Amino acid sequence: MAVDIVEMLKESRMTKICAPMVRYSKLPFRDLVRRYACDICFTPMILADSFVQSSKARDNEFSTNKKDEPLVVQFAAKTPGDFANAAEMVAPYCNGVDLNCGCPQRWAIKEGYGVDLLSKPQLVKELVQTVRNRIPAPFTVSVKIRLLKDLPKTIDLCRTLEKSGVSFLTVHARTALMRNQPIDLFSLKAIRESIQIPVIANGGVNSLQQAKDLYESSKCQGIMVANGLLTNPALFSGATVTPLTCIQDWLNITSTIPTNFLTMHHHLVFMLEKSLPKIQRQIFNNLQTRESSLEFIHSHYGVTPQAVPESIEPIACSYQLPLRHNSKLIEQSDSGDEWEIIPSFFDEEKLTCNIDPN
Ligand SMILES: Cc1cc2nc3c(=O)[nH]c(=O)nc-3n(C[C@H](O)[C@H](O)[C@H](O)COP(=O)(O)O)c2cc1C
Repeated sequence: MAVDIVEMLKESRMTKICAPMVRYSKLPFRDLVRRYACDICFTPMILADSFVQSSKARDNEFSTNKKDEPLVVQFAAKTPGDFANAAEMVAPYCNGVDLNCGCPQRWAIKEGYGVDLLSKPQLVKELVQTVRNRIPAPFTVSVKIRLLKDLPKTIDLCRTLEKSGVSFLTVHARTALMRNQPIDLFSLKAIRESIQIPVIANGGVNSLQQAKDLYESSKCQGIMVANGLLTNPALFSGATVTPLTCIQDWLNITSTIPTNFLTMHHHLVFMLEKSLPKIQRQIFNNLQTRESSLEFIHSHYGVTPQAVPESIEPIACSYQLPLRHNSKLIEQSDSGDEWEIIPSFFDEEKLTCNIDPN
């Protein structure tokens, strides 16, 4: 794919980025935020070993369309072979891969993923270098981190990553123990000043103005948003609450790109959070079918799904298994739904937007 993300980040303007979000930053949502001034999108975190081994995992976890660019595919990986194999397989459909070093969930730490990698800089270096050696620039290899408790150690880690060939770094400027507290701007700036590669700042941005303020104060090249985009996918275009056009676009997109009911409904729950009165919100949040949700939206907002003029259907992805790097790789036949990763990421009962699992 043609776009060079590093060159984009070097432009003297704020690059606006949709965060990796398990379950949420999938193709339909990426298509939506790209219509509202989002420059770069990340996929949800995908387990690299599953992606390499299982065609079912690949089909469940990744889809894309012709407009889905620039795109970074984020992986959870702990062995260089898995990360590099997954990267090679997905490379024809994206502009770069990212390594998740920020997931603070217990299951991830136990498995050696996410923040567990922050204490293993040599392994992270090896993971990055293996991809870099196999896939040349402008394809990017990036890492998303959280802050360690100790700032000098965080800076050391970032310098090690820079030396290992990381294209850019995303810093969620909170430690693994911080939940929705304000970000640690001091540490973010210190990291930014310690390395030469582009840094993307992440955490606590809920409006375009806040994005601009963080861009100015941190001097980072890009601003990444997660929760703020869930509640208002048009945030980067300057809208302060989800505009009606965005609801209309969501209905259009999800009637064209296959989207399961829960995903379609959850996103609407987030988007309508600020505009629906409490009672109406409770009614909408408890709806159980696509039809009843569409009926509700029609009666409250007067919109129904319309045919999308341009082609946004997913493209067929065919993956080359990188057998030359691992003769043991086989195309598994799967049973069960073990690829629906991290069920505890999101408490479906609560439907609250301030989830911050990473
Ligand atoms: C629903 C949800 C899912 C997330 N999934 C991921 C993920 O797959 N990978 C990742 O690195 N971070 C993930 N995160 C963390 C976000 O990318 C981001 O770092 C965090 O939410 C802080 O940004 P915010 O303050 O703009 O929400 C997730 C966050 C949310 C809310």
